[in-house]
Amino acid sequence: MTEPMEARTYATEVLLRDGGKIHIRAVRPDDRQRLRGLFHSLSEQSIYSRFSTQKRELSEAELDFLTRLDFVQHVALAAVIRAEPQIASPSCENQEEQIIGVGRYAVQKDGNAEVAYAVADAHQHRGIGSALLQHLTVIARTAGLTTFVANVLTENVLLHSAFLARSGFYPTVTVSLGVAHISFPLGKAGHS
Ligand SMILES: CC(C)(COP(=O)(O)OP(=O)(O)OC[C@H]1O[C@@H](n2cnc3c(N)ncnc32)[C@H](O)[C@@H]1OP(=O)(O)O)[C@@H](O)C(=O)NCCC(=O)NCCS
Repeated sequence: MTEPMEARTYATEVLLRDGGKIHIRAVRPDDRQRLRGLFHSLSEQSIYSRFSTQKRELSEAELDFLTRLDFVQHVALAAVIRAEPQIASPSCENQEEQIIGVGRYAVQKDGNAEVAYAVADAHQHRGIGSALLQHLTVIARTAGLTTFVANVLTENVLLHSAFLARSGFYPTVTVSLGVAHISFPLGKAGHS
């Protein structure tokens, strides 16, 4: 097994196909408000797809879970842009970060991890979901994991299988109790 990389400090720049630039970095404890912002930028449909239920807010307990990560069993990356400053400023430090997408995995057993991801509706179809998945894969592979499993609503299987295939993976689907489990080996991703 390869030495695990320092996932907690993972950070990289990504150039999107539309020319936009995003920063992908590890989720931090101080991201609670930014994750609330991302949640409120999701349509009802995206919320339902991500959480398999309708909800209007993330609870404090959910925000604890989403931000208190050990970066071994539970790893999360955020896609970040700089929010437009209210007052023109030459300093980047004054520009607040905005999270426009997040991807995470939780280790299960036998080299498997459950993966989940969401991108703000206004930023979907720019390649951000795919980029988050690629970078999560880098971390997971280095940690010795072999397979991601995404649990999605059965009505969304085709969409997610297309998303994963387009992202360079080879998904296979099983269904149990009305939930589709899409698993895909990490060794066959299109990018390293
Ligand atoms: C799934 C999701 C994360 C994709 O994010 P994204 O940033 O839009 O994805 P990308 O731009 O990287 O898409 C890559 C490919 O996936 C496919 N794809 C993505 N969204 C799709 C959609 N709604 N319908 C059909 N294909 C889609 C496309 O083939 C796309 O490539 P293309 O744009 O060159 O055609 C986003 O739709 C989302 O947040 N959905 C709601 C939450 C959710 O369903 N999470 C998964 C369950 S945990």
